[in-house]
Amino acid sequence: MPESRVPRLRRFLVCEPRHFAVQYAINPWMQPDVRVDVDLAQEQWQSLIRVYRSHGHSVAAVEPVPGLPDMVFAANSAVVVDGRVFGSLFHAPERRPESIHYDTWFKTAGYDVYRPESVAEGEGDLVWTGRYMLAGTGFRTTREAHREAQEFFGHPVISLTLVDPYFYHLDTALFVLDDDNIVYYPEAFSPGSREVLARLFPEAVLATRDDALTFGLNSVSDGRHVFIAPRAEALADRLAGHGYVPVPVDLSELHKAGGGIKCCTQEIR
Ligand code: ARG
Repeated sequence: MPESRVPRLRRFLVCEPRHFAVQYAINPWMQPDVRVDVDLAQEQWQSLIRVYRSHGHSVAAVEPVPGLPDMVFAANSAVVVDGRVFGSLFHAPERRPESIHYDTWFKTAGYDVYRPESVAEGEGDLVWTGRYMLAGTGFRTTREAHREAQEFFGHPVISLTLVDPYFYHLDTALFVLDDDNIVYYPEAFSPGSREVLARLFPEAVLATRDDALTFGLNSVSDGRHVFIAPRAEALADRLAGHGYVPVPVDLSELHKAGGGIKCCTQEIR
């Protein structure tokens, strides 16, 4: 274990939960028409942004659009590697219009945007490790989109099959700690995918179902600090044992839609 882990400053893209609500159910966390406290969601989200900035990360924001209650989950709208933007095509018709607004933000910022032909939900399922693109499928993003992403980025895309509906996006079951290592919950994956992860990341930190259910795997790491849900205390303690510095940020109101810290955070690389 390195004496001191070194953070790398990041550029994040986010979207304020001004119009956040749970109006439809497209994952098992969502109880349609459950009451959400938008003010609390906004406060929690603002604290995430403050914490990112106080750790030196830069944060840009897309303007939220009324009628798109899940737009706060910025991670789903694209995956950006080497300045190349692979946009999104949502599985749920309710979320499809979100892509246009994110695409517009990227185009205004001077990027070209590739629009996938097959269902692809950005960093929700396409997770860049610094070496490979880990790609989830089973609930949302399709295998066909994995092929498109490989063709687009020219980096190896490793397809992984998700099997537990509570962990419907790859970023609910796995996150990247740094260029060398990841954390994941093995039972969220098919047996073959589990074997693939074990071969690629023999030193990975393995998580429990509890770690995953408390949104502990929907975390963001800068290589040193791990921005993590406070209820995922057991996992945070284990990460501290590996030399990382857990930084708890509570997004409990957003959990009602099945999203957490990583879902609210897209990284522009
Ligand atoms: N309600 C959203 C959906 O089901 C939550 C998305 C969470 N985002 C994520 N990156 N896992 O699509």
